[in-house]
Amino acid sequence: MPLIKLDIFSLRNIQALSLTPCPQLNLLIGANASGKSSLLEAIFILSRSRSFRTSQLKQAIGFESPELIISAQNRYQNGSVATLGIRVDGKQTEIRIDQQHRQRADLAYALPVQLIHPKSYQLLDAGPQTRREFLDWGIFNHHPLFLPAWRSFSKALQQRNALLKTRQTQQLMAWNKELIQYGIVVNQFRQQYITALQPVFLELANYFLASSSIELRFSSGWDDQRDYAEILAGDLMRDLKYGFTHSGPHRADFLTFHDKRLAKDYLSRGQQKLLMLALMLAQVSLLNQNAANRCIILIDDLSAELDLENKSKLLKYLAQLECQVFITATSLEEFGDLSVLNQYQVFHVKQGDVEQP
Ligand SMILES: Nc1ncnc2c1ncn2[C@@H]1O[C@H](COP(=O)(O)OP(=O)(O)OP(=O)(O)O)[C@@H](O)[C@H]1O
Ligand SMILES: [Mg+2]
Repeated sequence: MPLIKLDIFSLRNIQALSLTPCPQLNLLIGANASGKSSLLEAIFILSRSRSFRTSQLKQAIGFESPELIISAQNRYQNGSVATLGIRVDGKQTEIRIDQQHRQRADLAYALPVQLIHPKSYQLLDAGPQTRREFLDWGIFNHHPLFLPAWRSFSKALQQRNALLKTRQTQQLMAWNKELIQYGIVVNQFRQQYITALQPVFLELANYFLASSSIELRFSSGWDDQRDYAEILAGDLMRDLKYGFTHSGPHRADFLTFHDKRLAKDYLSRGQQKLLMLALMLAQVSLLNQNAANRCIILIDDLSAELDLENKSKLLKYLAQLECQVFITATSLEEFGDLSVLNQYQVFHVKQGDVEQP
């Protein structure tokens, strides 16, 4: 599902930009502050209805403008083309697909985007919430029933925590039932996903790190060998004391091991980056196995993260992937030997605009 046309209005230093990308590798070259990251940010916003650079989307609106607009034509695997659009002003976000008003989740399904940028490599060191969000994005694209189950679980959790805080124990039973029902479903989806992801991740970790002793260990957020209802009952006094639910899928996490040692305590910084790269690309690969949906990969600042050998390994891998990729760099030399790539397009980014070759 490549983007065949992208239009951006009033996003950071981009006033009006129109791009016709190629279906495979798009190399975006430009000086510092030319607008390369802003261009990737536009694609990310169009997919996730949020930015990866700021928590408030309105901060991405160009200083001179009351709103930003991003629209694109996206071709699906079956050949049909949809027009996706998002408009953000200081107050609200409006989403359209083929002129119809739609929800954020519709955009995210229509345009799955995996972003790899300097902060993505902090996944191993970040808190469990970041890893859960990472995992859940993959599951969201893997199974359409994950989102409704996750929403129902989150609602039950919110209600239960509110009751715990105000010590309204009579109503707890009703929300316990919902929490258990959807919590178990959410956990099952996560476990199934990890099982599917594991071999793809291993293959990629082997490619990037030449190591086959990598392991991904998932923890559910409670001892899932035991009955969740029993655990909640056992936790009740503690939950009431602290005013929140201690056990459940909202405490889930995963750890990566290399040679049975915790990767984040053992691997070099560079190896950790390669491991995270393998994990992020494993998600993409798994997503792409679902023929209706293809993922777009955004890589910001290629050189900041990888040495020449690993960069060329990555580019070789991306070139054989049936996937549209956008990569930024400050010069073409940073990509190394381009003759190994089949289909790619170079765009020069200058002062918030691109030169279309
Ligand atoms: N809301 C905004 N309105 C206008 N300009 C902005 C806004 N936010 C940021 N900018 C400016 O937009 C310019 C482009 O930033 P961007 O991060 O896209 O550059 P870049 O090409 O990725 O640079 P680098 O190579 O340093 O990463 C910067 O000069 C930045 O200060
Ligand atoms: Mg940048």
